[in-house]
Amino acid sequence: MRFLLLGKNGQVGWEAQRALAPLGEVVALDRNGHDGLCGDLGQPDALAATVRALAPAVIVNAAAYTAVDKAESEPELAQRINADAVGVLAREAAALGALLVHYSTDYVFDGSGERPWREDDATGPLSVYGATKLAGEDTIRDSGCSHLIFRASWVHAARGGNFARTMLRLAAERERLTVIDDQIGAPTGADLIADVSAHAIRSTLADRSLCGTYHLATAGQTSWHGYASFVIETALAAGKTLAVREIAPIATSSYPTPAVRPLNSRLDTSRLRTRFGLHLPDWREGVSRMLAEIC
Ligand SMILES: NC(=O)c1ccc[n+]([C@@H]2O[C@H](COP(=O)([O-])OP(=O)(O)OC[C@H]3O[C@@H](n4cnc5c(N)ncnc54)[C@H](OP(=O)(O)O)[C@@H]3O)[C@@H](O)[C@H]2O)c1
Repeated sequence: MRFLLLGKNGQVGWEAQRALAPLGEVVALDRNGHDGLCGDLGQPDALAATVRALAPAVIVNAAAYTAVDKAESEPELAQRINADAVGVLAREAAALGALLVHYSTDYVFDGSGERPWREDDATGPLSVYGATKLAGEDTIRDSGCSHLIFRASWVHAARGGNFARTMLRLAAERERLTVIDDQIGAPTGADLIADVSAHAIRSTLADRSLCGTYHLATAGQTSWHGYASFVIETALAAGKTLAVREIAPIATSSYPTPAVRPLNSRLDTSRLRTRFGLHLPDWREGVSRMLAEIC
């Protein structure tokens, strides 16, 4: 069985290369492609030709325009990558009878309330990024292709830049950090997302009634302040020398950014756990593993 994986060097894409490997032949592309194959979501015609040439059983799209603040000033580009190109993949998947696996975000919601969001709750993106990701989801659902859409939250990975690494760097330089404490979510490892994807793909290939949209996040919840505190406490316990003496909580309103972010990023994952028989660990497990790798 052949898999086409797009965005192979992103947080999720990198881990998906590992997790998909035992399932079949994985043709993994970044935006530069290789051997005449196009992995650039900005080139719809070449992308469609690549899907047709490879005729994969499964397309996994881990590529996306993920620069949340920059998207506010580049809405056309974000739309092209997060929605238009996804439409191309969806139409090609439908024509081939392939399964399309795609990742979306809690940023499709408006962040109101305190209840974890369910898949069927009304969406209401607050940012260009969130709106383009929602448009990508819609184009998949409209295409009629077999699909799995996983809405993830607060993705982290040992590879590349991430929040934990930034906190550790700042904690080594400064005695006082200020971190937002009124946005609530669950840090979720790219490794867990990739492993859950692989399990779900196997099940869905055997039973297409499992196709649909799912929330994929770890158990438990925290704020960015709680996340930062855990990272720093764990690093200190592991013997790391840090300058930080105080991690002060601040409100989102006192840290303005170009893109508005949802306050409530809690995702209800019951549908995913029930339909696929999966267990999602507490967020601290994945963050601890990542810290063991990067500290
Ligand atoms: N990160 C989060 O907190 C978060 C939260 C919820 C959902 N998600 C979703 O989860 C998925 C994976 O996110 P991630 O954290 O793994 O993102 P990431 O690390 O930023 O990776 C995204 C990848 O997409 C690639 N890409 C960007 N534009 C492209 C183009 N035109 N053609 C081909 N590739 C392109 C990037 O390549 P370059 O490095 O070359 O630009 C990068 O390798 C995305 O759909 C994202 O929206 C992420």
